[in-house]
Amino acid sequence: MKKKLKLKSKFIPVNIPKIFRQDKININKCLKQGWISSEGSFVKKFEKEFSKYINKKYGIAVSSGTAALDIALKSLNLNKGEEVIIPTFSIISTALCVIKLGLKPILIDVDLKNWNMNTEDILKKITKKTKAIIITHIYSFPVDMQKIIKVCRKKNIKIIEDAAEMIGQTYKNKRCGSFGDLSVFSFYANKHITTGEGGIVLTNEKKLYEKCKSLRNLCFGSGVNRFDHDDIGWNYRMTNIQAAMGCGQLKNISWIVKRKREIGSRYYSLFKFNNKIEILPKYNNYSKNIFWVFGVVLKKKVKLKKKYVMNELMKKNIQTRSFFCPMHKQKIFKKMNIFPKKKRYKNSEYLYSNGFYLPSGLSIKNSEIDYVANCLNNILK
Ligand SMILES: Cc1ncc(COP(=O)(O)O)c(C=O)c1O
Repeated sequence: MKKKLKLKSKFIPVNIPKIFRQDKININKCLKQGWISSEGSFVKKFEKEFSKYINKKYGIAVSSGTAALDIALKSLNLNKGEEVIIPTFSIISTALCVIKLGLKPILIDVDLKNWNMNTEDILKKITKKTKAIIITHIYSFPVDMQKIIKVCRKKNIKIIEDAAEMIGQTYKNKRCGSFGDLSVFSFYANKHITTGEGGIVLTNEKKLYEKCKSLRNLCFGSGVNRFDHDDIGWNYRMTNIQAAMGCGQLKNISWIVKRKREIGSRYYSLFKFNNKIEILPKYNNYSKNIFWVFGVVLKKKVKLKKKYVMNELMKKNIQTRSFFCPMHKQKIFKKMNIFPKKKRYKNSEYLYSNGFYLPSGLSIKNSEIDYVANCLNNILK
């Protein structure tokens, strides 16, 4: 009884990252040596080690996953008005990189089997104007990409694979992030590997690598005058301190992936008898759920609203986070008239209306998982 009361008074955030001893040793090294900006050996080391882990040739470390998307897409040098296929159910960064470059985003609804882009729908939406597809793996499983990759190779459509949420995940036994012409990752604090803020672009193509490197660093002049710039770029550099942390984190990736699956499996078994929520399975025919976050969707028969349930959990000191608001529902894009007004993407809307995720960061304790699951089961009783 005493234990229960103690737990109730303790706030359980949706994510607490795991900081490793090696992260601190590496960061202290930077501080001692004074290599604190983007110059310094850890940036190159992290790029090399991370790209090797994913099985790509080149890595360009940047300041965020959003920056990685901006750079990756711009490096393809597409013409205004050309089409880029993206999920409607994703972080806004996916649509932003397309819109900022004057390209046309074509939205894809969710497949409720795995909460990812519906691959049949992708194939239907490919036209002569399609120049790239951003394949974004969401929450649990990778997108079932085999067919799409084949079609893209044939039609010379570039793939940007967004594996921000899938560090350490595999698709048909190959690492997520190893499939795209360009692959992007985020190292925000809720990702499997964190550098506080950060991201990376990976590629096997030297030309794309050189272009991304230049775009990350203001496109400084490659000719005699460094300050006569080659193109419109950004300062999206990652600092040596961030990369130092990334190297420490990467050393622990096997443990991280194992722990994420343990957290997910624990929730999974605690919700086994709850018929009011939908949760994704632990396995599908091409992958194993990595449980980046543990998502739950209130079934249609549940009379309670998502907001109410999330509030009730908050009253018990449990923080939750809503699922993504689909791109076609974003007020800013409505104002800008980006997407056709009446077009519906009903699966994404359904997930957004009824889905949220539970605390599932790497530092969560098993007793906290039990408490969260117990509270949710009671609220839905
Ligand atoms: C799939 C995906 N891509 C990109 C991003 C953007 O990453 P960042 O927050 O580092 O800009 C996120 C952020 O959560 C994400 O989930």
